[in-house]
Amino acid sequence: RTDLLLPILKGQPVIPVLLIDKATDAVPLARALAAGGLPAIEITLRTSAALDAIRAVAEEVPEAIVGAGTILNARHYEEASKAGSRFIVSPGTTQEILDAARDSDVPLLPAAITPSEIMAMREEGYTHLKFFPAEQAGGAAFLKALSSPLAGAVFCPTGGIGLGNAKTYLSLPNVICVGGSWVAPKELVEAGEWEKITALALEASKLSA
Ligand code: 3PG
Repeated sequence: RTDLLLPILKGQPVIPVLLIDKATDAVPLARALAAGGLPAIEITLRTSAALDAIRAVAEEVPEAIVGAGTILNARHYEEASKAGSRFIVSPGTTQEILDAARDSDVPLLPAAITPSEIMAMREEGYTHLKFFPAEQAGGAAFLKALSSPLAGAVFCPTGGIGLGNAKTYLSLPNVICVGGSWVAPKELVEAGEWEKITALALEASKLSA
């Protein structure tokens, strides 16, 4: 399903990783990010509002590409897909999630860190991987060291990435985009400061290698 995933990962340098506490924030937030050039968003299943948030964005914000993150098992995979997610992101990879992906039309961005994990994903047919938690796991230097022996594996690093270090990641040959929550800070979401979020998105959407 790389055919469905690739345009999303290629389409913008930064994929916002969102924790939404109030489902009613989802639509204005998705609109604000899309207006700033970041249509693809990852709504994490870390809050009880997440599935309603995904549903609302899928139904009401045609310009957005809504995905689901923090998918930990097959039930999450199914619920997030039914809610309208167009891609699925998991912080690690299990056989259960790989099986769920195989049975689904919704593409998976699975995660891997170590060379062995990356090789195992390659055997499963996955070349595009999330690298999480990026900064803590070794950061851009670690990813750079993988680029020659594991050429062909392409990453979307997330975790500890912000405006200050995003470029370092984006300049690596094996990084296609980065993910991060910095474009939608909790205080701005709670205050409904959507223009400020659009401004953060604009700044992020202009990042390049
Ligand atoms: C994720 O799930 O990808 C991370 O929690 C995002 O990390 P950040 O909040 O440090 O950007």
